[in-house]
Amino acid sequence: MATSPQLFTELEDWITWRQKLERDGRMVGFIPTMGALHSGHASLLERGRKENDVVVLSIYVNPTQFDNKDDLARYPKTLDHDRDVAMRAGVDAILLPTYSQMYPDEYKYKVSENDLSRQLCGAHRPGHFDGVLSVVMKLLNLVKPHRAYFGEKDYQQLQLIKGMVESFFLSTEIVPCPTLREADGLAMSSRNVNLTPNERKHAPRFFAALKESTSAQEASSRLAADGFVVDYIEDIGSRRYGAVKLGNVRLIDNVER
Ligand code: PAJ
Repeated sequence: MATSPQLFTELEDWITWRQKLERDGRMVGFIPTMGALHSGHASLLERGRKENDVVVLSIYVNPTQFDNKDDLARYPKTLDHDRDVAMRAGVDAILLPTYSQMYPDEYKYKVSENDLSRQLCGAHRPGHFDGVLSVVMKLLNLVKPHRAYFGEKDYQQLQLIKGMVESFFLSTEIVPCPTLREADGLAMSSRNVNLTPNERKHAPRFFAALKESTSAQEASSRLAADGFVVDYIEDIGSRRYGAVKLGNVRLIDNVER
């Protein structure tokens, strides 16, 4: 039987535990999340389990990366379920920090990037990537993992985190993980539970349009005609990126072209 992961709600307790791992020379794998865990998150946890001695999960709905108050308020919270997923994946420790622990300076200091972070999602969600990079920098400094796992579902986020780690000489290896999808192609996302049953049926057409269209413009027109509100569809390098709204829910995805 798998044992329950240890929960850390106090940073001091966490730091003491981490120091012991250091003394024991243990390899630490880290998976930062905002909770409401699904099989996509579980795939990152399982990969971390295979490649490290100790697996650490953080669950923190980071307010500084939300540009929309309603989106933050609607973000699903499922701690009991998350603990269950973590236990089944063999997670050793769960970090559950609060705002005042993560932002003792009330966000006076931040990490920002001024090129890729202004494009795609960054152009539509002002300040979003400053929030993501700042919280990931804080978490990497607290957890000091040998490896940290991020999904290609959030490809722009992954590229920005890799760039930050290089620019600031952090020693963590960033491990990219493939996007997990539902059987009908919809990329798994914590926000999918906020789709109505009809929207949920309609949502896989987003991935289909990204994959099947011969140009970004074609995908964009096809989605607009199909009832999606298109934030952007853009081809950059060998990848097509998109973000659309279906009712209240914003979906993002990307495909190799
Ligand atoms: P969250 O959306 O909870 O995602 C946590 C991690 O799981 C991210 O690396 C994300 O890319 C990955 N992930 C989400 N859906 C996935 C899927 N369908 N397949 C594979 N991986 C998937 O991304 C965040 O949280 C936050 O921005 C965070 C990095 C934790 C900073 O707050």
